[in-house]
Amino acid sequence: MTQQEIDAIVDRYQSKESAILAILQDIQAKEKYLPKETLEYVSEKMHIPMASIFRIATFYNALSIKPRGRHKIDVCLGTACHVRGGNKIMDKLERDLGVPVGETTKDKKFTLESVRCVGCCSLGPVAVVDGEVFGRMTQDKVPKILKELK
Ligand code: FES
Repeated sequence: MTQQEIDAIVDRYQSKESAILAILQDIQAKEKYLPKETLEYVSEKMHIPMASIFRIATFYNALSIKPRGRHKIDVCLGTACHVRGGNKIMDKLERDLGVPVGETTKDKKFTLESVRCVGCCSLGPVAVVDGEVFGRMTQDKVPKILKELK
């Protein structure tokens, strides 16, 4: 991402400190993650300490300071999904993708993460793939879902 592109995002929010989350979300949407150099540039430009920006960048699940894969798979491990077998879905994905939760496959195709409740507990166990909710997940459904992702 060029400095001009970052400037355009920051300027869109009139450099308001209160808009820092929205600014980081816009950068994330474009870059798929938040590169350290970009955060440093934003920190300097907006006069916000790097530690504050880093805290926000690591707090929200939608943001990532590590490069992510083309597809993001979140397995819900909230209480309702957990009691319905969310861990088994996670186990199957870890096995099939060959990476532990929190990691990205070597080919940069998939990033596997866990979330705590996405608000559709009655459909549990739930996985969210690129923002699409898959309810009543079973281990058997995993290969088909992975296969359909290019
Ligand atoms: S606990 Fe999984 S959606 Fe609520």
